[in-house]
Amino acid sequence: MRNTTLGINGPEVGVIGLGAMGMTFAYDMATPRDEATSISVIHQALDLGVTLIDTADVYGPYTNEELVGRALAGRRDRAVIATKVGMEAIDPTGGPGGSPLVKPNGRPEHVRSAIDDSLRRLGTDHIELYQLHRVDPEVPLEETWGALAEAVQAGKAGHIGLSEVSVEQIKRAQAIHPVTTVQSEFSLWTRDVQAEVLPYCVEQGIGLLPYSPLGRGFLVGRFASFDELPQNDQRRRLPRFQQENLRANLAIAGKVREVAERTGFTPAQVALAWLLAQGPHVVPIPGTKTPKYLADNVSAADVRLSAEDLAELDAIPAPEGARY
Ligand SMILES: NC(=O)c1ccc[n+]([C@@H]2O[C@H](COP(=O)([O-])OP(=O)(O)OC[C@H]3O[C@@H](n4cnc5c(N)ncnc54)[C@H](OP(=O)(O)O)[C@@H]3O)[C@@H](O)[C@H]2O)c1
Repeated sequence: MRNTTLGINGPEVGVIGLGAMGMTFAYDMATPRDEATSISVIHQALDLGVTLIDTADVYGPYTNEELVGRALAGRRDRAVIATKVGMEAIDPTGGPGGSPLVKPNGRPEHVRSAIDDSLRRLGTDHIELYQLHRVDPEVPLEETWGALAEAVQAGKAGHIGLSEVSVEQIKRAQAIHPVTTVQSEFSLWTRDVQAEVLPYCVEQGIGLLPYSPLGRGFLVGRFASFDELPQNDQRRRLPRFQQENLRANLAIAGKVREVAERTGFTPAQVALAWLLAQGPHVVPIPGTKTPKYLADNVSAADVRLSAEDLAELDAIPAPEGARY
């Protein structure tokens, strides 16, 4: 696979990463997980040139990092691990629909202890990219970011990044320690970052990691109605997936399919190639636990869409419903 770097100064990675979240968290939680398949997907990803594996301590909670750690045993040097801190599970079943109740925790002492827990679960002594999952509104960003910077100074983290932040917040962090990456929801139906965050990242040489780049499966035609969403699945609570909005949004997935049929690519390849065209250090992290989807996503690295195709995708209208 083609490589790039995480921002101008970060480690080299394949231009398509792998999001591990859905392997143990968030989606289709009523169906028991097949850990062997998830691990084989991570191995297959490494074999296909994926290096960036994205996880977070709160996914599971905690089981996702453990799974990634088990998958990377004996293969550690082939992966660039990106994990996150700053969201804490305060009640394992107290969230909506019996899901874990999570809230931001940006206290420096939390960051200092959480990285040691992440290292243990991941079975490693360093994390290439340690990311702040969310800014805690109750803790000055400078204090939280300062604790992440300490992890770099201690040799526990190679680089640090932010998630879901404004340009103003990026600048505040930069005043203390370089920001290597920003992770944000970014896809054909979530374009908020295009106004300010993406141009600023391009100007500053900061890497952008689009999360949920396939619209949580919607953009690639996985769901034609609300009833098709699995039980106990986070998407059932998102405004965009509610039946009326979802029905209206089918036109968006239809446009992706139309471009895919005309160009001979798959919808996933089209959605990811559109993201890759947004900047040299844009590394989407599609999530999958399914071998054939992984192969599909990875092959997007070689897809170049024409200017006409990109313009047609740019013209896709905004969806109905907020993203959260
Ligand atoms: N920073 C944050 O706050 C944040 C928030 C959300 C996610 N993330 C990160 O972003 C990663 C990806 O996001 P995501 O998982 O929410 O959404 P996504 O990558 O847009 O979509 C994942 C969904 O699409 C399906 N899928 C994947 N590739 C496919 C293909 N080629 N064809 C058909 N279906 C396909 C997956 O199915 P299967 O799982 O059944 O294979 C899954 O249901 C996560 O794993 C996580 O690391 C970060």
